[in-house]
Amino acid sequence: MRFSNLVTALTALSGAKAAAAVGDERDQLVKRASLTQVQNFGDNPSGIKMFLYVPDNLPENPAVVLVLHACAWTAEAFFGTTRYGQLADEHGIVLIFGQTPNDGDCWDVSSDQTLTHDGGGDSTGLANMVRYALDEYNGDPSRVFVTGESSGAMMTQVMAAVYPDLFAAASEFSGEPAGCFYTGTVRGWNSDCAGGQIQHTAEEWAATVRDMYPGYDGEYPRMQVFHGDVDTILHVNSFNESVKEWSGIFGYDGTPLETLENNPGASLTKYIYGDRLQGIWGHGIGHVVPTNETEALTWFGIL
Ligand SMILES: *[C@@H]1O[C@H](CO)[C@@H](O)[C@H](O)[C@H]1NC(C)=O
Ligand SMILES: *[C@@H]1O[C@H](CO)[C@@H](O)[C@H](O)[C@H]1NC(C)=O
Repeated sequence: MRFSNLVTALTALSGAKAAAAVGDERDQLVKRASLTQVQNFGDNPSGIKMFLYVPDNLPENPAVVLVLHACAWTAEAFFGTTRYGQLADEHGIVLIFGQTPNDGDCWDVSSDQTLTHDGGGDSTGLANMVRYALDEYNGDPSRVFVTGESSGAMMTQVMAAVYPDLFAAASEFSGEPAGCFYTGTVRGWNSDCAGGQIQHTAEEWAATVRDMYPGYDGEYPRMQVFHGDVDTILHVNSFNESVKEWSGIFGYDGTPLETLENNPGASLTKYIYGDRLQGIWGHGIGHVVPTNETEALTWFGIL
């Protein structure tokens, strides 16, 4: 799978999702605020873009949620097809929608810079968006979360690995384990990872994660991983590899303690590996398992 195929596949998906949203009741809800670009949010070495949604009624110490689009998407498009805006209005959350430097770009999940704490890549810019939002809106530093689809899901795992000090929990829809896409180049395409050929033990994956922020000895964010069992763009093996990675970090043995059928919805099975890790396997679902905003915000403890 070449990068251009992924873009084509995801562009098609984007059209389908937009069409499906037409006539949906969510469109009749009026957004009370609007998505606004913020220019100077801090050090931004890779030139990524920050968009912010701040509801009119904000609690004193709001939670902050970073939302990351797939390749070939924009912040505005992803914002428009998800329910995060309405949920932010209802629950008083600050939303940050990141956007890659050029339309069509994927997130950088492959360079040394992005895979290093304050290393100067996309991850640094995203961390500075979070720091900016916390400062500006008196956000609650213990309730900062990250989520995304596809490339944004890979970046979600990278943010959890590179900035465990910032995030309390993460929810990703059809990504890859942090570090799996490493190529040593910016926005590289790792076909071995995408093809399911990179497999490690839980200990090896955990060491990869810890190397991204050497010396950090605090807690890592709780992790929720979605993947479809007929995904042909990011191989189905990535589900187990992600589960191994975070099991290694949390000291779990990687076998489910609990299995919940049709959870959180039809065709989905939820495996609970421990308090800090769950995996949701989509039956007959390809790339991507669609974002479930309610489930992500429930995992974050907001709903
Ligand atoms: C994932 O791991 C489970 C056991 O934990 C195994 O039954 C399953 O076949 C694995 N899936 C893949 C795609 O390797
Ligand atoms: C999304 O998650 C909620 C629970 O958090 C569940 O009630 C709902 O059915 C899910 N939607 C889908 C489409 O799976």
